[in-house]
Amino acid sequence: MKTVVITGANRGIGLGFLNYYLSNGWQVIALSRSAIDQSTLNRNIDECFHNLTVNLLDESSINNTAKSINNLCNGIDLLINNAGVAEHEVFGEWSQAALTTNFQVNSVAPALLTQALSPQLNQHSKVIQLSSGLASIKNNLSPLEGFDSYCMSKAAVNILSRRLAFKLADKKIIVNAISPGWVKTDMGGPEAPATITEAVNTLTQTIEMLSMENSGKFLDENGKKIDW
Ligand SMILES: NC(=O)c1ccc[n+]([C@@H]2O[C@H](COP(=O)([O-])OP(=O)(O)OC[C@H]3O[C@@H](n4cnc5c(N)ncnc54)[C@H](OP(=O)(O)O)[C@@H]3O)[C@@H](O)[C@H]2O)c1
Repeated sequence: MKTVVITGANRGIGLGFLNYYLSNGWQVIALSRSAIDQSTLNRNIDECFHNLTVNLLDESSINNTAKSINNLCNGIDLLINNAGVAEHEVFGEWSQAALTTNFQVNSVAPALLTQALSPQLNQHSKVIQLSSGLASIKNNLSPLEGFDSYCMSKAAVNILSRRLAFKLADKKIIVNAISPGWVKTDMGGPEAPATITEAVNTLTQTIEMLSMENSGKFLDENGKKIDW
């Protein structure tokens, strides 16, 4: 049985991943800040499902949760660093608090969690960071909107992904930053074109197709390269 670890698994795209992998017979280790409401699961929970709490703003919480995961399973096939925050502030109102929170959750936590779980990653394991099209420096989308610290933190998780891809290449571990597209969640809002189910169906197919050849790349939900 394959094992996936998903952060931010209690709602949004993370909950979509959780239900997808549970339905497909994977062992799912779902990480969330508070316990997951079991009525949101599309399958009766059994030995395949574990819910551990973590606050990604807290280094000791990340390391303690990683220790529990290391005790719980024998190898991780897929780690999805999905959890994210988007604290938007317009220029003139930027604050250290919002900038730091975006960086802590969106780029620091994936670095620390991946490091702590790396002993569990084997040949052909995959490590996926949920990035954003807004991270592209070349495309520099919506530069006049208040997405600045979010964009900065997602550009940081992109370079993290690229660096990890090289660090883990000798173990043949595949690492990618993937933008999910614009998805109807609390973060994406009701105007987004894709439902969570649609987005997760596309993203999981793309993740399935990834190989060492694509490792280290920044991809859209369909697996197409995005300019850094
Ligand atoms: N939706 C989109 O259109 C879109 C577009 C581009 C990229 N993305 C990226 O896709 C990923 C998922 O987005 P989403 O739309 O599903 O977001 P969402 O609905 O806002 O869910 C965010 C998830 O992250 C968790 N999280 C936030 N801070 C945390 C912390 N300190 N500790 C632990 N968990 C924490 C939340 O947990 P709580 O419930 O405890 O807050 C929640 O489970 C994010 O990385 C986002 O940046 C989304």
